[in-house]
Amino acid sequence: MVTQQEVFHINNKIFKLFMEEEEILRIVVTLAQRINKDYRDKNPLFLIVLKGSVFFGTDLLRNIIIDCDIDFISSKSYGNSMDSSGNVLINIDHLDLDNRNVIIVEDIIDTGYTLKAIMDTLSKFKEIGIETVALLSKPEKREVEVNIKYIGKEIPPDFVIGYGLDYAEKGRNLRNIYILEK
Ligand code: IMP
Ligand code: MG
Repeated sequence: MVTQQEVFHINNKIFKLFMEEEEILRIVVTLAQRINKDYRDKNPLFLIVLKGSVFFGTDLLRNIIIDCDIDFISSKSYGNSMDSSGNVLINIDHLDLDNRNVIIVEDIIDTGYTLKAIMDTLSKFKEIGIETVALLSKPEKREVEVNIKYIGKEIPPDFVIGYGLDYAEKGRNLRNIYILEK
């Protein structure tokens, strides 16, 4: 494996190592074990939210051993800034989710606006069951109440990159997670 640096510079911001790959994967396996137990015989449909959840979603799903389906949605709320705009665009035109048990797969819940918008959009389907699995959550930054059934780890209200998470589209490719140095 290619050795990665402990510090990254993006647009004059400094990000330091926060969670190593081993810790991330331990958390992912624990989440998968809980879902395997809770959703046996429920044939869940995992909705991976692009782009941030791409690595989390694929690692999680490789540890799911029950009958399931996988699909993707995209949501966009962040530009180059580190603050949530509250404006969230979600693309679900390709989905028919009537009578499905859906598990939304999110990288990180910050203000909660994105997850709330996804849930509101999905609620138009008939007899849909909706739960969420999020790798990370920043409870101190929450602005709208959202119910998250599976949370990997609660973290401080600081910006993080790596393992799919970006700052200005950079840093998604990193194997570890790095936190903004103030
Ligand atoms: P929310 O709508 O404020 O809850 O933000 C949700 C989305 O913003 C997440 O799905 C991420 O894509 C992005 N986001 C929130 N916090 C961070 C962060 O610390 N680093 C990178 N992306 C983030
Ligand atoms: Mg996201």
